[in-house]
Amino acid sequence: MKRILIIMAMEAEARPVIDQLGLAALPANQQLQSGFPRFRGEFEGKEIIISLNGKSREYGVDRIGTEYAALNTQSAIIEFAPDLIINAGTCGAFSADAEIADIITTDQPVVYHDHRVPLKGFSEFATGHHPAIYRPEYFQGVVHKLGVVTTGNSLDMPVVDRQVIQQNRGMAKEMECASVAAVASLYEIDFFPIKSVTDHIDIELNNVDQFLDNLNLASIKLSETLIQVLTNIK
Ligand code: ADE
Repeated sequence: MKRILIIMAMEAEARPVIDQLGLAALPANQQLQSGFPRFRGEFEGKEIIISLNGKSREYGVDRIGTEYAALNTQSAIIEFAPDLIINAGTCGAFSADAEIADIITTDQPVVYHDHRVPLKGFSEFATGHHPAIYRPEYFQGVVHKLGVVTTGNSLDMPVVDRQVIQQNRGMAKEMECASVAAVASLYEIDFFPIKSVTDHIDIELNNVDQFLDNLNLASIKLSETLIQVLTNIK
């Protein structure tokens, strides 16, 4: 049976799909100090594992960002040996590119926009360019956009990040994808992202407020999309 690992950063993003798929919580892996909540079940002849980045012990919030996404992905690969990895979550986008709750995936490598090392070789390494697969048949019946997914560890967008994002023709600005793609690539496992837009990164209204206002809607859209994509994967 095909085993699909879905890496998600925030519990609120994941809750609708965990509930709809009826996945069961797995006991914590005692070898891991790090507490990644994991859920497993069967759906349409596939084994589905959702693994969350978990909560900060100190601050009680979801451990968004690249460090815990990478740790989460590597430990889940070692434990479950998935055939395919999906990184599902929310993102920001330019208002000309996408509406709130639109779905974005990619047919191009995933990059970082806040790793700048202008030294020969290191510059390309820092940008990442981690591979992602695009199988149109997986997205049959899903209205979606294709664009560059660009990762950094900040919700805001200083001018320098905006310049890099525009140079790289970034469409989905988010905080985990390149690190998940990097780990999937290390283990030579097929990988692709599914992102739903919570905020427009180029309009005046603070994108923290936009993010909070739209998180629920985007998470429901993400859940519907994931279920359609998981159904389409044969
Ligand atoms: N996730 C959702 N919106 C985001 C943004 N504007 N930047 C980074 N990650 C996000």
